[in-house]
Amino acid sequence: MQAMFSTPFLDLPPLQSAAGTVTLPGSKSISNRVLLLSALSQGTTVVHDLLDSDDTRVMLQALRQLGCGVVVEGTTVHIEGLGGTLEHSQAIEFFMGNAGTAMRPLTAALAVLGGDFTLKGVARMHERPIGDLVDALRLLGCDIDYLGNEGFPPLRIGKPQLTLDAPIQVRGDVSSQFLTALLMALPLAAQQRDIVIEVVGELISKPYIDITLNLLARFGIVVRREGWQRFTIAAGSRYQSPGDIHVEADASSASYFIALGALACEQGIRIQGVGADSIQGDIRFMDAAAQMGAAITSGPNWLEVKRGAWPLRGITLDCNHIPDAAMTLAVMALYADAPTTLNNIASWRVKETDRIAAMATECRKLGATVEEGADWLRIHPLRAGAWKTASIHTYDDHRVAMCFSLAAFNPDGLRVRIEDPKCVAKTFPDYFEALFSVAHTDAAHIPVICIDGPTASGKGTLASSVAQQLGYYYLDSGALYRVTAYAALQKGLDLANDETQIAALARHLPVRFEGDQIWLENENVSERIRTEETGMNASKVSVLKDVRAALVELQHSFCKLPGLVADGRDMGTVIFPHAPLKVFLTASATERAERRHKQLISKGFSIKLDDLRADLEARDARDSNRSVAPLTAAQDAMPLDNSELSIEKSVQQVLTWWQSKQP
Ligand code: DC
Repeated sequence: MQAMFSTPFLDLPPLQSAAGTVTLPGSKSISNRVLLLSALSQGTTVVHDLLDSDDTRVMLQALRQLGCGVVVEGTTVHIEGLGGTLEHSQAIEFFMGNAGTAMRPLTAALAVLGGDFTLKGVARMHERPIGDLVDALRLLGCDIDYLGNEGFPPLRIGKPQLTLDAPIQVRGDVSSQFLTALLMALPLAAQQRDIVIEVVGELISKPYIDITLNLLARFGIVVRREGWQRFTIAAGSRYQSPGDIHVEADASSASYFIALGALACEQGIRIQGVGADSIQGDIRFMDAAAQMGAAITSGPNWLEVKRGAWPLRGITLDCNHIPDAAMTLAVMALYADAPTTLNNIASWRVKETDRIAAMATECRKLGATVEEGADWLRIHPLRAGAWKTASIHTYDDHRVAMCFSLAAFNPDGLRVRIEDPKCVAKTFPDYFEALFSVAHTDAAHIPVICIDGPTASGKGTLASSVAQQLGYYYLDSGALYRVTAYAALQKGLDLANDETQIAALARHLPVRFEGDQIWLENENVSERIRTEETGMNASKVSVLKDVRAALVELQHSFCKLPGLVADGRDMGTVIFPHAPLKVFLTASATERAERRHKQLISKGFSIKLDDLRADLEARDARDSNRSVAPLTAAQDAMPLDNSELSIEKSVQQVLTWWQSKQP
């Protein structure tokens, strides 16, 4: 799935409260483990509620390359297992993106299976350590070479000469994914004998190992655990598909909504898909959030969170057990009554980015005082009046982007800019949509840009391009008048005399906008309403006072988070009079007639240029001279004559004006 906000940045207006229900996407950690285990198993596995994200796509692609049957039906995926062996012998190159949950376990599984494989990723992946896993696999007799820097991907993998007599040792203090990778790969080699893995050093992120063991058990692999130091895979182990398996929602993703409840929700926000009994370690974030003040209740597969203590309480916490979710505490800490210290977070330094540095830098941009050490972070709260408007750099790290969206609840009413918002696609492609579905702010805080002007001035193209650049909604108000006129004629109404009936029709106009398609009930009217004739008819119904009044509410309903660009005749004067930016777009009548002519010809309509120009002038006259909401520039509108300007230049001009309105 693609993130909806693929804009260079997303401005979050100041948010005030939250309520409602969110359903979270599947857990990344569970999804990618389940995919690999299904691939290694005998039989077909039907995986339900799989996360659709960058990381799972990387894994699915790798499995296809290995020859697994993969059939994707929405969030259900059928995996036909390889049964623990690889039949083909050709060289395969795998691209792992920045997906650690694919890179580490695949490296181990491929190294044990043997073949001629290359594993690469994006530049950041080539900076993420894998040496300890490679060392352990080499001791076991696997054939692995570094193609770039020692200790880091890319890697080449050949055929192993496995020696399994001695326990296999692996470091546990850099990433628990190394141990997970071995636990998932070594059952492939445990046909004849028990295999023992010993962890050297303190094991970090233990809950992730619990997830691994839990899932291995569902795929028929029993691992004996002695403390967190020694793991034994029983001889005769064999992956067996469980048939169907359901992926829990992502507990780390839940952290943003738990925080949201604690920060901004009086009635309670319901989080669907994961409950307190989750097998994911990050669910324990709820305890930390509760310590800071969140009021949380839970049932099977759901959580409900609201404000408890306010302001939140500053805490000191060893975060080793919730490495990913703990980042969310750093932003909650801004709203606390005392500093918050997050300890034992060294692993943050080797994640998607150096997360200690990233969180410190970005919290400071918001105005906070932050102290940091090799493996700890202390965030001092920000009092009202001390917040700063910031543009948050996100380092291609989904969690940085999601965490800082919570800064939009600042008490100073400041907007927060999130750079490169699409990076959330790694684990939660429609995170911002989910956030906007439960976050609320006064309509006055939702930014609106109005672009009014005469027919064929290029408003539609300009307004929709500006909307796209900003990730805002787009309202083509002319289309509403066109659809109204079209629907009225369909019903046999007289456009000049049936004002009351047309207004009644407009008040409950069954119109739907889906992408750039416009539907009137079950009829796709996108093309039909674009004719000159419908334009003229729209102009006729638009002089009717009751019709205009009937369409007001519908137009207001387009004003939604994160913002709106609206085009028409009276957007700035009547519908959104408080919009912070109004543009009055014009072009000469000749230029407009030529543009419209080209547009109509390209759509297959035949019409004479002179007739078109006469039509335009007649419509201009009616739109400007009518008594209700005549076409006129709002007093505070910026005039823009685009007769000589390209679309790009006009868009740039509007964005520059918009930028200059920002604090
Ligand atoms: O922008 P357009 O050509 O699609 O608009 C069709 C007609 O609708 C236009 O002639 C006048 C009317 N209209 C209006 O009165 N107020 C608006 N906000 C938008 C359009």
